[in-house]
Amino acid sequence: MNWETFLAPYIQVVEELKVKLKGIRAQYEYESKHSPIEFVTARVKPISSIIDKAKRKNILLDKIEEEMQDIAGVRVVCQFVDDIYTIVTMLRERNDFEIVEEKDYIEHKKESGYRSYHMIIRYPVATIKGEKQVIAEIQIRTLAMNFWATNEHSLNYKYQGRIPSHIKSKLKRAAEAAFQLDEEMAMIKDEVQEAQRIFNQYKLTHKHKGGGSS
Ligand code: GTP
Ligand code: MG
Repeated sequence: MNWETFLAPYIQVVEELKVKLKGIRAQYEYESKHSPIEFVTARVKPISSIIDKAKRKNILLDKIEEEMQDIAGVRVVCQFVDDIYTIVTMLRERNDFEIVEEKDYIEHKKESGYRSYHMIIRYPVATIKGEKQVIAEIQIRTLAMNFWATNEHSLNYKYQGRIPSHIKSKLKRAAEAAFQLDEEMAMIKDEVQEAQRIFNQYKLTHKHKGGGSS
């Protein structure tokens, strides 16, 4: 297995998707509209994690291209739950990739308490040997969902997937609190967005006028 050659198209996909999604955010900013995208992160799965996961899931190395769907991973983080579905609709309308599968872990949260919207896509990437279809995973979630998932992920790493039950139950309560936070924020969404629009307008008009930074 030549990992460098194998991973090159994945690196390309992740970079392209990052540029495209950050471009969406920038367009909303130019138009002084609320951006459904707060920030975007992306990564290519480290080789050691690919090998571990292949072992864990009994995936043969010559099958990982089709069977390991998160080698290229992009994460879109939003302020509000509504924003997630705005992005989902937008992604469905694109024609630069094909959607293979959608998993709505918001409507159907996982046993762990995990919430997020997943989209598995098939993305055509140009290589020196011609076009190659690469599978990638896009995770779309709110800041609250991201906060929870990041912490839960750290604990899973620390306990190698066997989180003690007293911590598990605290995590479930934290997941419920994150859900409540999303609900509360949804109720003041218009108010928050109006305030942010005013503040962004203020920043635009006071830019390049000297007086130091802040
Ligand atoms: P893996 O979970 O990656 O083995 O694949 P899968 O086929 O089960 O897909 P699933 O949609 O369940 O998970 C894909 C990705 O979502 C994972 O790699 C994680 O990044 C994330 N994810 C899924 N479940 C959880 C969870 O309970 N906690 C956290 N922190 N992340 C999760
Ligand atoms: Mg899973």
